[in-house]
Parts: sequence; structure tokens; C-alpha cells
Amino acid sequence: MTLQDQTIAFIGTGVMGEAMLKGLLNRQRITPDRIIATDPYLQRGEELMSRYGIRFTVHNDEAAQQADIVVLSVKPQVMSRVYPDIGGLLKPSAMVLSIAAGVKLSAIQKGCQIQNVVRAMPNTPGQIGEGMTVWAATEQVNEQQRYRAEMVLGALGETLYVNDEKFLDMATALNGSGPSYVFLLMEAMIDAGVHMGFSRQDSQKLVHQTMLGSVRYAIQSGSHPAELRNQVTSPGGTSAAALYQLEKGTVRTIISKAIWAAYNRSVELGAKDED
Ligand SMILES: NC(=O)c1ccc[n+]([C@@H]2O[C@H](COP(=O)([O-])OP(=O)(O)OC[C@H]3O[C@@H](n4cnc5c(N)ncnc54)[C@H](OP(=O)(O)O)[C@@H]3O)[C@@H](O)[C@H]2O)c1
Repeated sequence: MTLQDQTIAFIGTGVMGEAMLKGLLNRQRITPDRIIATDPYLQRGEELMSRYGIRFTVHNDEAAQQADIVVLSVKPQVMSRVYPDIGGLLKPSAMVLSIAAGVKLSAIQKGCQIQNVVRAMPNTPGQIGEGMTVWAATEQVNEQQRYRAEMVLGALGETLYVNDEKFLDMATALNGSGPSYVFLLMEAMIDAGVHMGFSRQDSQKLVHQTMLGSVRYAIQSGSHPAELRNQVTSPGGTSAAALYQLEKGTVRTIISKAIWAAYNRSVELGAKDED
């Protein structure tokens, strides 16, 4: 089963919408003529059409009513403006796939007047096909549609299906906001390198490759991170001295508290939207 017989509409083709359609085309999961994108500005459309050979319209209704899969890739606060454009116009067999952070399945069902809805939480590395996307679906989404949702979201990188929407708030805290924690650590390490005397460029190279290599090593070895950490921590050595300071600064508790704060904020924002 492929996406070849499907028409996919991207409603709002900014950073993430473009990343998804680009990933789909690069992976040859669909041909350009099967993609129709929308955006408020024709200039953006001309850019997308010349870059990818896809179809474009500034009219959300026109794109949505001919689609088998309607990807909602607008900002969460724009969703309420999109609903009146497309609600009631979709094919009964269509599936709506939203990547808008925090917007609940029930709200999308109501707004789009359709039962088959997928909600996903991607992250920014998806822009280069290295993302991590967690997704959930309403019970009306059938097996075939789930498979297709997986194919569309897989254009951004790795995917994980969860059978309960509550995991999406947790995913928001872990993989959605996750890159911001990694970038903060990256920045702090680069700055420390500069503080010691490396040029910024050299420090950046050292930190980038150390992070990349550590992640690849952790994945390939399949070992627990504590085991890998022990391997580089000789008694009385340099890593031990650094780790002592990190633990003294309660780094684990801080990370845990930070992720819980993001989770609580995600739940809070979702509840606000239901008011
Ligand atoms: N970026 C990420 O890494 C990331 C991660 C997780 C989730 N998300 C979710 O992905 C969604 C898209 O994010 P993004 O970063 O791609 O945002 P973006 O670059 O701002 O893309 C949204 C696009 O929608 C267009 N738009 C605005 N109003 C519209 C309307 N009424 N109809 C059709 N299109 C409209 C915007 O045009 P104008 O710019 O002209 O207004 C823009 O091109 C958001 O809901 C966000 O929560 C993003």
C-alpha cells in the first residue's frame, strides 16, 4: 500500500508543511501532482510550485475538498480560522492530520466536521528528516488510514503511535520541546569551550560531534546510559570531577522538573482551549 492514489492537501505550508511535503517527495511516497498546498500568499505558492512542482491555491476550501488526506499545518491559534473554510466540505472518506501543538482530537473533529482525525506532535529536526513524531488517532481512523498517516508523518523522521491522546502532552514535553533542552546544553558546552580558550568554531565542532557520536553510540550499543557514562568515568579522573559538580548542582532533578513543567504547561494550554 502506498500514498500514490491519494491526494494530500497541506493547509498552511510554512516550515513544517514544507518539511513534510519535501520529505514525502524525496522518499518518493507520492508524486508532486498529488499534493496541493495552501498559504495566504500567492508569492509563497509560486516558490513552492517552482521548488517542488506541486499544485497550489490560496483557497483552503478548494484544496481540502479534493483531498483524501488533509494536513493541518497552520499555527494552533490559526486553527479556528481554518475550520470555517473547510468544515463540512471534506470527502466523507477523508482523514484530517493535524500537527498543531495542543489542539485536541475532539476540537479538530468538531471544527472540521469529520470523525477521522490524527493528531501528531513532531519536532524541529523533522525539517531535515531527523524528527521524532508521536501521534494518536480517533477510533474512526481505520487500519488503512493509520498506515497512511504513518507514511505521511514518517516523512519527518521516526514515528511512534500511541493509543491514548494523553501521551501527546507527555510527548510535547519530551520530543516536542526536547530540542530546546539539547540546544541549551549544546550552547552551554560551546560557551565553556570558548571560556577555556578554544575558538568558537572549534568548540562548536567538538561539541556537535561529541553529541552526535554519543547519541549514535548509545543507540548502536543498546546499553543503559549509566553504563556508557561509567565507561568514561575513571576513579579520580576528569569526568568524575565534572560529574560531581553536575550532581552537586542537582542536574537530574532540574531536568526532571523542567520536563514536568513543560508537561503541566501543555495540559494547562489544552484545558484552556476547551473552555
Ligand atoms: N516548527 C516545529 O518544529 C513544530 C514542532 C511541533 C509542532 N509544530 C506545529 O506545526 C504547525 C506549523 O508550524 P510551523 O513552524 O510550520 O509554522 P509556520 O512556518 O508559521 O507555518 C504556518 C503557515 O500557515 C500559514 N497560514 C496562516 N494563516 C493561514 C490560513 N488561514 N490558512 C492557510 N494558511 C495559513 C502561514 O502563513 P503566514 O506566515 O503568511 O501567516 C504559514 O506559512 C504549528 O501548529 C505548530 O504547533 C511545529
